[in-house]
Amino acid sequence: MSDDAAKTYPPSAEMAANAHVNAERYAQMYQASMDDPDGFWREQAARVDWIKPFSQVKDVDFTLGNVHINWYADGSLNVSANCVDRHLETRADQTAIIWEPDSPDEDAKHISYRELHSQTCKMANILRDMGVGKGDRVIIYMPMIPEAAYAMLACARIGAIHSIVFAGFSPDALAARVNGSEAKVVITADYAPRGGRATPLKTNADQALLHCSDSVKLLVVKRTGGQTTWVDGRDFDYNALAADAADTCEPEEMNAEDPLFILYTSGSTGQPKGVVHSTGGYLVYAAMTHEITFDYHEGDIYWCTADVGWVTGHSYIVYGPLANGATTLMFEGVPTYPDASRFWQVCEKHKVNQFYTAPTAIRALMGQGNDFVTKCDLSSIKVLGTVGEPINPEAWNWYNDVVGGGRCPIVDTWWQTETGGHLMTPLPGAHDMKPGAAMKPFFGIKPVVLEPTTAEELTANPAEGVLCIADSWPGQMRTVWGDHERFEKTYFADYPGYYFTGDGCKRDADGDYWITGRVDDVINVSGHRMGTAEVESALVAHAKVAEAAVVGYPHEIKGQGIYCYVTLMGGEEPSEELRLELRNWVRTEIGPIASPDLIQWAPGLPKTRSGKIMRRILRKIAENDYGALGDTSTLADPSVVDDLIENRMNR
Ligand code: WTA
Repeated sequence: MSDDAAKTYPPSAEMAANAHVNAERYAQMYQASMDDPDGFWREQAARVDWIKPFSQVKDVDFTLGNVHINWYADGSLNVSANCVDRHLETRADQTAIIWEPDSPDEDAKHISYRELHSQTCKMANILRDMGVGKGDRVIIYMPMIPEAAYAMLACARIGAIHSIVFAGFSPDALAARVNGSEAKVVITADYAPRGGRATPLKTNADQALLHCSDSVKLLVVKRTGGQTTWVDGRDFDYNALAADAADTCEPEEMNAEDPLFILYTSGSTGQPKGVVHSTGGYLVYAAMTHEITFDYHEGDIYWCTADVGWVTGHSYIVYGPLANGATTLMFEGVPTYPDASRFWQVCEKHKVNQFYTAPTAIRALMGQGNDFVTKCDLSSIKVLGTVGEPINPEAWNWYNDVVGGGRCPIVDTWWQTETGGHLMTPLPGAHDMKPGAAMKPFFGIKPVVLEPTTAEELTANPAEGVLCIADSWPGQMRTVWGDHERFEKTYFADYPGYYFTGDGCKRDADGDYWITGRVDDVINVSGHRMGTAEVESALVAHAKVAEAAVVGYPHEIKGQGIYCYVTLMGGEEPSEELRLELRNWVRTEIGPIASPDLIQWAPGLPKTRSGKIMRRILRKIAENDYGALGDTSTLADPSVVDDLIENRMNR
């Protein structure tokens, strides 16, 4: 990534003239957000309807041992009323959700705000009848179908806390989240069609529930109508119940700081942690960033290709767009089914105005050739977006030239599950773009670049170090579910007084920001965030594995691939069959997204004399950059490294 020398792309005159935020307005608003954060965020809070107005805007402390983050704390509101009911007066017949199914042969659906209201209320009434109340947890394990959005909004309506588990996760991973959140109900579907295949979600849920309390109930939505088993008393038939359920339901009055949802995400150590987001601050931030980052205007058709199982789906398919009264497109399928033209055909079919996807999808499609794109009419697109991982300049240029026809600004949005919404991105009508740069902080965000070891703030440009944020914003996560101490330790211990992002970053000579990737043991595989520790613990759970170390390595399409060093139990012989077995093992323990790309048999792992695995060395070998191993003098047995280099898999 070259930075200072990089070509810059200014916003078009038309964009600058019509966008919500142009360069001048950005400068003025950003300054206001720094000078008087309370005043700024008080004003922005008017984006949502409050039941009871708040008096205090912000009560935040980042000091270890006393970390608390409260926004609008004595106000009350309901998220589902904000995303649905308040639009009924002006836009009841406007489409809220366009649903595009996996197969282009099946009809798309257009769900109006009126229908969204009645469906959400029905689902809310069903959940209440199943015994779910305010503060109870509900797991959502669903395909990308409108019922997934109804389920989220229904939980929000009755004050239940939802936790979505991506449908690609295995029964074991699902069970861990049901137990971790002590959920009362799991909402699932019979099958999840994707790319022409169908995952048996109900069967997965059945398996997961074998490891959960007997009291957990299952609400099953019919998607394909395929065969499933049925457990009387435990399983509830959504479609039958919805036919009779009342289509009105009084929304619960929620405190601004009541949790809206938990979303499990990977960290550098241990098992995934439950990121907790709030009701008031989260919604204000999701709505504001959705409108301004994508320059969303009344009547636009907006499409984010993420899955609701990830935070991007929460903030930018459901909550942000619906709070803004937008038309949001929900796609069940994959970019390459039936062929590599699908994304662009959907854009053409529904006349999409803002299109938001991940670099991994762009790279995969770029490899298929331009015809798949150019045969479609993409003239409706005004703004393109990317998220999830750094985008390499080749992919950026292709996205810009071939998809955007050189007309559309690209918002490279940097953020995290923890941040609730975008923290850095160029704004379409305000900023120059540089391929691969996240450019500028959003309003209220104060990024700081710290020297990694001394924690000294680097104030001159250019600068390179770890990225922290100096103060809170309304969308920030509030705690780790059930483990506030872990929250403090993970984000506030290493760099006192700051929120530590886990990312490295460069600020170039112009003061623009470039994210350089994770500085911890988190890897980013096809935009899916994963802890290497999780894959390691899955591997060592296999009877033939004695020890395992997992690192990321550069992968052309996925961004990073999963590289595993595996030491077998004494007496076990390496073989291709065993490699396959281990790969499948990890898929069943975690899910297909965690499937190892390369497995190297390691007779030993490089360790310090105190027995700590030297990951730096393993990373270098996996990157095929073993010439630069650095200091190996602390190794207990240096010969181990020679064997690993000799038998490396990524040549
Ligand atoms: C990475 C996804 C570079 C980053 C919203 C972050 C990015 C992690 C970008 C969070 C981007 C996300 N440029 N890197 N535009 N967006 N990342 O929690 O390493 O799934 O820490 O949230 O993805 O991943 P998560």
